[in-house]
Amino acid sequence: METPANRVPAHIAIIMDGNGRWARQRGQPRLAGHEAGSETVRRVLNYCRDAGVRYLTLYAFSTENWARPPAEVSGLMALLGAFIAKHERELIERRVRLRVIGRREDLAEPLRQALTRIERATDAFERQLIIALSYSGRSELARAARRIAEEVKAGTLAPEAVDEAALAARLDAPDVPDPDLIIRTSGELRISNFLLWQCAYSEFYVTPVLWPDFREADFQAALAAYAARDRRFGGVGQVAPCAGGGGT
Ligand code: FPP
Repeated sequence: METPANRVPAHIAIIMDGNGRWARQRGQPRLAGHEAGSETVRRVLNYCRDAGVRYLTLYAFSTENWARPPAEVSGLMALLGAFIAKHERELIERRVRLRVIGRREDLAEPLRQALTRIERATDAFERQLIIALSYSGRSELARAARRIAEEVKAGTLAPEAVDEAALAARLDAPDVPDPDLIIRTSGELRISNFLLWQCAYSEFYVTPVLWPDFREADFQAALAAYAARDRRFGGVGQVAPCAGGGGT
């Protein structure tokens, strides 16, 4: 069954989990799971395009992931570089804007340069693929707080002007709307330091399917679950949240 257009999330964010378990189940090295996971990324980009999703954020590498064995870290970085190189032209042809959020200074110079080049080449496009790289919600919030402190110190921002909107404006991709739907694969019921500010009113969908096995039927099941949710943003009906408005 097709989801009505007004019930399609404008922004989907995904915690792509289960690559390691997928590989282990097959007696393969963990990196084989990440390779299969990058194929899922390619497929999910198509599902989002077909469904009319405008923003897709993928949690590709957390600040905590640096603690993984060096071979896995370098393998993942190589995979990301290869994915970017392979899909650069396609992103441009399909008019998808690529953005990176996270501590980009942690990334190796060639990867950083490649990402910046594609970000510039695609920055006029409306649909967006946002890759969270060396990212954690806490580190993004600390970065925003530091920016505010610097501006207050420089005298360009009054302390009384520091409110929710001021902080939101200093996040890594401030113009991107909060995710409507956050999907996590592999069944874990955790946010894992992902988009901590932005997830305030996101709907969560957790599937036991491991990321490399995630297919269109799983994507459609997530969209159907989202379409059936009653989003109240702390109020009583389907309205956008007010700044500072609490509730459930
Ligand atoms: C979590 O699975 C997955 C990751 C830490 C990496 C995700 C990266 C990719 C899918 C590579 C390509 C990404 C892009 C954007 C092209 P896990 O290793 O924690 O799995 P486990 O919990 O089963 O061990």
